[in-house]
Amino acid sequence: MRAYNFCAGPAALPTAVLEKAQQEMLDWQGKGLSIMEMSHRSNDYVAVAEKAEADLRKLMNIPENYKVLFLQGGASLQFSAIPLNLLGKNNKADYIHTGIWSEKALKEAKRYGDVNVVDAATLIDGKHAITEQSTWNLSDHAAYVHYADNETIGGLQFADVPEVNAPLVCDFSSSILSAPLDVSKFGLIYAGAQKNIGPAGLTIVIIRDDLLDQAKPEIPSILKYGDQAKNGSMVNTPATYAWYLSGLVFEWLLEQGGVDAIYKINQDKAKLLYSYIDASDFYNNPIAIANRSMMNVPFTLADEALEKTFLKEAEQKHLLNLAGHRSVGGMRASIYNAVPLEGVQALVNFMDDFAKRHG
Ligand SMILES: Cc1ncc(COP(=O)(O)O)c(C=O)c1O
Repeated sequence: MRAYNFCAGPAALPTAVLEKAQQEMLDWQGKGLSIMEMSHRSNDYVAVAEKAEADLRKLMNIPENYKVLFLQGGASLQFSAIPLNLLGKNNKADYIHTGIWSEKALKEAKRYGDVNVVDAATLIDGKHAITEQSTWNLSDHAAYVHYADNETIGGLQFADVPEVNAPLVCDFSSSILSAPLDVSKFGLIYAGAQKNIGPAGLTIVIIRDDLLDQAKPEIPSILKYGDQAKNGSMVNTPATYAWYLSGLVFEWLLEQGGVDAIYKINQDKAKLLYSYIDASDFYNNPIAIANRSMMNVPFTLADEALEKTFLKEAEQKHLLNLAGHRSVGGMRASIYNAVPLEGVQALVNFMDDFAKRHG
């Protein structure tokens, strides 16, 4: 039996996708070999890669003046690639700081340029929240403004896309494809694959054409967006299997009715879990309602000493990976696209039963 997996990443993948991959594992479409064993330059593989891109474009309604890159190095390499490509002559960027991931991004950027940090994390009535954009001190001539849509560890998410005058650059690692998004508002969007896209090892970058060729000349070719775009993300051997599997996830998402349909399910899942937590005296979520993450739901138990028992009993019920990030503790349920509503219902049932027995 497959358990419900609430891991923050690498995260749950749709069972149907894994079954298809399993079917095709040894003999991909009658060719007598696995897709993993195929040249990335072969016609068959290039067709798979191009179909994945076309499906992602369809899902996100990506305008024609954007390139989609399938890269490696995780979202973390983009923390460096972005400043190295986009800082330009001004060498200045604004970074909105809301938690651990946006902080990691700005720390890397500081090695390359002049970074203006906007501290946008605050507490409202004891709950974590993001400050109003009108209070942000943005620079006059920033090459770009960077933020992380969803802080995976804190469970803190922007309610809206910020309105800024410079190209907007966003880390969507833990929220891409979870809700409709107007790509045209962004200069660059990036996301590590291992949450809502596919397996680890792949990073998607969606970049507007006018930003492609501003890289510092001395940086490695594999880090230059322009070079990657010209070479179909194949400056070197790409993560072929992760790319193929992500393509299967995109097909699955289209079969579900696309992002609009999955968004409705995601809203139902988040509502079910947050409403239960809010109605309970035993569990607590530390985030202000407007900034609650739809994908990552951190929560604490009334008695910290019960955490180990909670995790052990949850595992016995096939509810896996509910421990919070090692840096913050507590619990966290990541309810990405591949976690079904029934999984969240099973979690709520377990939480309720646990609270009755231990509360
Ligand atoms: C929002 C966010 N950004 C960046 C990262 C880092 O991703 P990677 O491990 O792919 O470098 C993560 C990983 O969990 C994340 O959640």
